[in-house]
Amino acid sequence: GDVAVLVPAAGAGLRLGPGGPKALRLLAGEPLLVHAVRRVAASPSVRLIVIAAPATEVEAVRTLLTPVAPVTVVAGGAERQESVALALAAVPPEIGIVLVHDAARALTPPDVIESVAAAVREGSPAVIPVLPVVDTIKEVSADDTVLGTVDRSVLRSVQTPQGFRRDVLVAAHATAADSLTDDAGLVEKAGIPVTCVPGSDMAMKITRPLDLFLAEALLGSPQ
Ligand code: CTP
Ligand code: MG
Repeated sequence: GDVAVLVPAAGAGLRLGPGGPKALRLLAGEPLLVHAVRRVAASPSVRLIVIAAPATEVEAVRTLLTPVAPVTVVAGGAERQESVALALAAVPPEIGIVLVHDAARALTPPDVIESVAAAVREGSPAVIPVLPVVDTIKEVSADDTVLGTVDRSVLRSVQTPQGFRRDVLVAAHATAADSLTDDAGLVEKAGIPVTCVPGSDMAMKITRPLDLFLAEALLGSPQ
């Protein structure tokens, strides 16, 4: 493999409700992070996996992942962007392709990881997996009056892993001022083209309690 995958996993999981850091919450009896790392490690492109763990759980995460795959574990930060930057600092300079993949997208298939890596390898400086938007989207005013209907055909929902040429991601993080919810946002602000590849329903983000039920059902369904 020629790719490093950074796995931000240091979030609290507040929207999931009480129960500890989200990456360590159980899905079908195993922590979300174990599901995620197992799929990352199954991707032939992957040479290095760096986890940004909750600061108090670094040793616990090392122990948890030892039987799953060889990984580097660092302490994450207060914001997702900081966790990504801390994990990025652990990537040796000879690795030229870096993917950033949320532990919360625990069921993302190795196929998606491979297609993102391949698109970067083929020359795209930044690559994101996307899906069409299924809902009708309205723009509304501050007092909840509809201003208009957005043309859904030009919109995409964005997943992870997001893939980058290493220098592009490093430069984006070096200049990042305000925090964004994804890494490609940092890159597109710098005027660098970001390419879309097809995402997957399996790459859904586990955010609210309902998502845990959906993920458990997806795990049991033929894939
Ligand atoms: N993340 C991180 N460091 C942070 C915040 C988030 O590494 N300081 C990671 C999360 O662990 C998750 C991913 O970024 O894998 C996406 O974040 P999100 O889904 O928002 O997870 P949480 O921040 O844990 O959830 P919440 O916002 O509900 O607290
Ligand atoms: Mg969050």
